[in-house]
Amino acid sequence: MPPFITLPDLTNWPTTQSLFSPPARLAVIGDPIAHSRSPQMHNPALAACDIPASYIRVQVPVGQVKHAFTLFQDAGFLGVNITIPHKFEALDAVDHIDPAAQRLGAVNTLAIRDGKLHGYNTDGPGFLRSVQEAFHTSLRDLRILMLGAGGGAGRAVAVQCALEGCQRLVLANRTPEKASHLATELQSIAPQLPISILPWDPAHLLAELPHIDLIVNATSLGMKTEDAPLIPPQSLTSQHLVFDMVYRANGTPTPLIADAQLAQAQTADGLSLLLHQGALSFEHWFNRPAPLEVMRQALIASLNP
Ligand SMILES: NC(=O)c1ccc[n+]([C@@H]2O[C@H](COP(=O)([O-])OP(=O)(O)OC[C@H]3O[C@@H](n4cnc5c(N)ncnc54)[C@H](OP(=O)(O)O)[C@@H]3O)[C@@H](O)[C@H]2O)c1
Repeated sequence: MPPFITLPDLTNWPTTQSLFSPPARLAVIGDPIAHSRSPQMHNPALAACDIPASYIRVQVPVGQVKHAFTLFQDAGFLGVNITIPHKFEALDAVDHIDPAAQRLGAVNTLAIRDGKLHGYNTDGPGFLRSVQEAFHTSLRDLRILMLGAGGGAGRAVAVQCALEGCQRLVLANRTPEKASHLATELQSIAPQLPISILPWDPAHLLAELPHIDLIVNATSLGMKTEDAPLIPPQSLTSQHLVFDMVYRANGTPTPLIADAQLAQAQTADGLSLLLHQGALSFEHWFNRPAPLEVMRQALIASLNP
């Protein structure tokens, strides 16, 4: 099976389909896409459920999402995951949008049913499940600090926190205008929610952290060892819950998770989010529970120490 195929391959499906056995019926699209771990998680899940289908990667250029969806539909696909940079473009490329995806402003899951394209977002609900599983608590009981409120991931998580009615939401972003813009949007979703903007500097973080339960990293910092620390390590305590949306391909902890573990804080990383958003996509496609433990073990096995 090739690591990924391209849009011309999808256009030429009568020839391309012979590359896949069992037949390709699910895919993830993005640009780039070769790094995606979704096939390593979904193919064992399909096998465990005796579903005769393969899950493949398809590289789709910006501006071609609607066209790609039409090709998937013509080729008999059941569903597609959508990753960077297409989650916003996908919103305008479906026939029906789930209300939660509409509120989150992005689509990461397409289900093709009854000749129609249905768009969902499992990032926000996946985050909710990850928090419940890792910390045995609910977002509505927490005072939450979002580090990184300028990208799609931070937005999805912040909207989910607002929808759940968390105790308090603090947004910190390198570019403060983006945090202010998001705060305005969130306030329209949850008018009663106390939302504040924190300047992006260590002194303000140090002062704020004693009043925070859950710290979420939604920046792209932490994948590389040389990335600057997100927060002063001495500000972390065993009272904190730390959720890093980033994870490392070699399975080692990110600097934030390593600092949190030293402080004996409870932690969860991006792999748990990948797992739960994937499991929710599976549920949308097959209307049955996903084999969560099969998917979890497959993801762990896909890490390259
Ligand atoms: N585990 C999962 O399943 C999953 C799912 C989605 C995303 N993620 C991860 O979540 C992270 C964010 O994703 P995204 O799609 O939202 O990315 P994005 O759109 O590129 O947003 C990046 C965010 O990081 C901030 N940032 C980037 N470089 C920075 C720096 N040097 N210093 C301070 N802040 C910096 C940006 O701040 P500005 O606004 O100032 O630019 C922005 O808030 C990525 O690491 C991604 O891999 C994980």
